[in-house]
Amino acid sequence: MGLNVTSSTISLGEGSTPLVPARRLSERLGLELHLKCEGLNPTGSFKDRGMVVAVERAAESGARAVVCASTGNTAASAAAYAARAGLEAIVLTPAGATATAKRAQARAAGARLFEIRGSFDDALRLCRELGERDGFVLVNSLNPDRVEGQKSVVGEILEQLGSAPDIVALPFGGGGNVSAVAAGFAEAGASPRLVIGQAAERATTWATAIRISEPAHGAHVAELVGAGRVEVVTLSEDELRVAWQLLSHQEGVFCEPASAAGLAALERLPDVEGTTVVCILTGHGLKDAGAVDEGGSNPVDATLEAVLEAIG
Ligand code: F0G
Repeated sequence: MGLNVTSSTISLGEGSTPLVPARRLSERLGLELHLKCEGLNPTGSFKDRGMVVAVERAAESGARAVVCASTGNTAASAAAYAARAGLEAIVLTPAGATATAKRAQARAAGARLFEIRGSFDDALRLCRELGERDGFVLVNSLNPDRVEGQKSVVGEILEQLGSAPDIVALPFGGGGNVSAVAAGFAEAGASPRLVIGQAAERATTWATAIRISEPAHGAHVAELVGAGRVEVVTLSEDELRVAWQLLSHQEGVFCEPASAAGLAALERLPDVEGTTVVCILTGHGLKDAGAVDEGGSNPVDATLEAVLEAIG
């Protein structure tokens, strides 16, 4: 843990992401909010923290290929680190349900990407089976090296804030990230409230990164909830959209839709006034620029008069 960049030979400089004070949103909520901008990792999402570890171990084990199911970000990350390690990356995504830029990232790095006629859950089931084959290593978060690497965000938050926050809020898709964050805080001897936001419409949500019906870490998350260490907030599509827009409109921080689930969950909590909160923003807004309503094309004549009239 800590601010050091991993010494891995395939590191791309993951981690050390900014913790940005959110002044306007803090005022709105009556608390002290900080945004952990994980979209500033090398491939634009938090996945890089664990992927660098998992791919390096896969290479050490003599694997031929890493395999993963993905809603997009895991694919982009696996592809980049596999390229550096000289391994093949085999990626299964749900057809028609992932953001274009994420598929482009994976293909750019030479991954073999197959859009399967099925859901993310189908893709994960297939990848678990592939991962049993000789030479293939599964690099979804069921791989413990992924979770191990993802813990590094905790050390950074503690170091950047100077103490543990009262609340840490983040999205809940498959539950790998909250498992890592919970383990990281436990190891650091800190116990903030961990609040996770999930889409009510898991199978169809607009936030495609968390379009997951059966969370792979669901049983573990249920245990953490039972032990009083994690609270789950179930969010409407509108709540996700509003939180995502607030981050951009009020703070200039453009994250992808799923990443706003932590803030949306926080907005729902009673009794949070005066607390110190960190929202983990898991992926960059440019990953899913198509989520922004461009408001149609409105060309303006190339004269000052026309521009002034358009400004109004
Ligand atoms: N936020 C983003 C941007 C994600 O890409 C994901 C998961 C999550 C949150 C949820 O994290 O699954 O650990 O609870 N994306 C995976 C993928 C499924 O394939 O990229 P989780």
